[in-house]
Amino acid sequence: MKYGYFDDDNREYVITNPKTPVKWINYVGTLAFGGIIDHTGGALICKGDPALNRITKYIPQLPSSEFKGTTLYLRLKQRDGYRVFSPYFVPTLDPYDLYECHVGLGYTRIVSEFYEMRTEVTIFVPLGEGRVIRDIRITNVSDQPVEIDAIPIVEYTHPDALKQFNNADWVPQTMQSKAYRDESGLVILTQYPFMNKDTQINYLTSNHPVSSFESDRRRFLGNNEYGTWANPLSLHEKELSNYEALRGDNIAALLHHLGTIQPGETTGLITQLGQDESVEKALPLINRYRDAEQVEQTLKELAAFWDTHLSRLQVETPDANMNSLLNIHNPRQCHTTKNWSRYLSLYQLGLGARGIGFRDSSQDVMGILVSMPKEGKELIKQLLQVQKSDGSTMHQFNPLTMVANEGDSREVEGAPKYYSDDHLWILLAITAYLKETGGLAFLDEVIPYYEKDKEEHPLESGTVLDHMHRAIEFTQSNVGAHGLPLLGFADWNDTVNLQAGAESLFAASLYGKALLEMIELARHLGDPEAVAQYTTYYGTMKQRVNKHAWDGEWYVRYFDADGSPIGSRSNEKGQIYANGQSWSVISGFAPPDKARTALDAVHRRLNTCNGIKLSTPGYEGFDPAKGGTTTYPPGAKENGGIFLHTNPWVIIAETIVGNGDRAFEYYSQINPVAKNEVIEQFECEPYVYPQNILGDEHPQFGLARNSWLSGTASWAYQAGTQYILGLTPTYEGLQVNPCIPAKWDSFKVTRQFRNAVYQIEVENPDHVCKGVKSVKVDGKEIAGNVVSVFGDGRMHQVEVIMGEEA
Ligand code: GLC
Repeated sequence: MKYGYFDDDNREYVITNPKTPVKWINYVGTLAFGGIIDHTGGALICKGDPALNRITKYIPQLPSSEFKGTTLYLRLKQRDGYRVFSPYFVPTLDPYDLYECHVGLGYTRIVSEFYEMRTEVTIFVPLGEGRVIRDIRITNVSDQPVEIDAIPIVEYTHPDALKQFNNADWVPQTMQSKAYRDESGLVILTQYPFMNKDTQINYLTSNHPVSSFESDRRRFLGNNEYGTWANPLSLHEKELSNYEALRGDNIAALLHHLGTIQPGETTGLITQLGQDESVEKALPLINRYRDAEQVEQTLKELAAFWDTHLSRLQVETPDANMNSLLNIHNPRQCHTTKNWSRYLSLYQLGLGARGIGFRDSSQDVMGILVSMPKEGKELIKQLLQVQKSDGSTMHQFNPLTMVANEGDSREVEGAPKYYSDDHLWILLAITAYLKETGGLAFLDEVIPYYEKDKEEHPLESGTVLDHMHRAIEFTQSNVGAHGLPLLGFADWNDTVNLQAGAESLFAASLYGKALLEMIELARHLGDPEAVAQYTTYYGTMKQRVNKHAWDGEWYVRYFDADGSPIGSRSNEKGQIYANGQSWSVISGFAPPDKARTALDAVHRRLNTCNGIKLSTPGYEGFDPAKGGTTTYPPGAKENGGIFLHTNPWVIIAETIVGNGDRAFEYYSQINPVAKNEVIEQFECEPYVYPQNILGDEHPQFGLARNSWLSGTASWAYQAGTQYILGLTPTYEGLQVNPCIPAKWDSFKVTRQFRNAVYQIEVENPDHVCKGVKSVKVDGKEIAGNVVSVFGDGRMHQVEVIMGEEA
């Protein structure tokens, strides 16, 4: 059974059956204003921050058939009353003749036919704007004239989304609504908690006269809420009650009489859901978007944004699924993770103090640099503001208040309050930004450290370069018994929380990779002292890793506080961890023979047809000494599940050792586009990578969850474009160093890089995986494989011949 298909020409996935195994979503807008639209039109919308300024009440744990945050009711006048239904299928669940949810780039379009009424609703947030627009068109496809009413409805949440759930007196006591009607009958129905009435109001409005409205949920559903969302009793009355709620569960419902539509005739309505300081302030833009042509124009601008965004890197490989992913879906997911970090999805609920994750966003930045380096830099700057003056960082922060915290470590008394990896990721992001743009001036920008005085002024500031040096020094000086980095509360694997004194091999390797980047940067900046110092740090750490952590066939993953290894053949459970191997290769710590042996062990012990497991065997029961990982059953999440984020790292490692066939096999087996064929097993959206897939120790092997917000997006994009196709920005230019399946004959990439377009054609006549024999740029052979920076706004032809190096 399939639930839809890819329409790459229109850059859409089209859902054709609303009863998908789990809710499938799309994102509209950005964190500044936007959120989630599900495949039956439900919406979770917020402005600036999902925890402290949420607008619609969308409860992801409710069954898929339930009303969630918003819907549209249509009602057809009949001889003895009304036929009420939702063209989004949910919540009325009427039988339909057609249902399509077009998951587009920045918009969702729902096309349906119920009772011979065809409805087409395009849902989007105009670029840089603070409103969700729903452009609704209704066509009578019957052979009879029909009298029709349209009732869009929104249910509000308290802006403090957690309080909505834990204070059921304060919230309803403060929620209020007020209606503004003009002479022509247009209505703006506003809503706010009392304390915000003069500063921050939500509104629902439309471009069609409203005959009546409702703002109280109880009245709308009727019969003391024994009326239901599937059949709201008030919709069987001619008009709603025009009640301006001064407390209670606030909604906004606007009843429009659209009149009689003749067979074949189309009528329309545009709604806007937004937030502003006041109605007066909002009015000019509200009026602007009441105009259908303006809305059409704005939709074109959105499409143009995506044209430009995607045009920065387009590929043509022999693999159709890879093309679809790299040209459309993967960049879209990277754009989404860049905006939302791990903050708001159906799985990461954006409540309380979760905020923007430091490590998460540092990695997300690397996935969008090709297309939006400026935004990447802004996010890096924001992240650096929560770095502490000792070089470590806070774990997460609220983007509205910039208040940061130490993540889950707060919940464990006596546990270290830092994570050993957080501050190192940002070095990778910064150097990636510098290589993409050449904008070295960024290194001199001064950014405060996180600590504040009583007046909330920063105690200390430093240049970006200073921030980077301090990050290195933090790890350098926080090592344990083997001289390896202390684990802190955790490293990338959030859920292995060992006693203070434990050491992390992952942090050691991430440190190694960060040092390689720092050495390269220092060399580029002409700073021989820094080169020498960091080279010494690197050499020492490499030596320690190989001395203590080689387990015979692979590298161990941790040393416990008492010095015993985890991720070793001497363990009964958790004998081998993927990250221990991939990162030893990425850091260059693993010498060639150990690299090959370790990666073969990954293939033997961890690979499955659905992806590479994080570790194996899974722990069989809760062990407080190991922490969160043992709360999961074997095969789930970090306990031996296929935690997808780790897969691109193995792919990258395989390309480093030159095994293009295996790298591509790993790449293909997790390509979500291919999951459309096994969707009953996979269940999540086939147009994005999920965070996790159940591993083969679990009876539901292959089942995906936590779609969309995963570091997999950024790393799979990097693995695909920079390591498999091998186009890597360097300080000097664009390096071409593919590592592909030997059977490939050729591939092409168009990539913009520092204000020039590189049209790259790679030929593989000898059928090698790796190795560049010659590179011609604009017809002339160059030495080496780094194509220089042109910056001339022009197109340049790059012809690459792979083969054994001459
Ligand atoms: C989640 C967290 C991420 C962590 C990963 C592995 O995805 O957001 O920060 O690295 O889990 O534990």
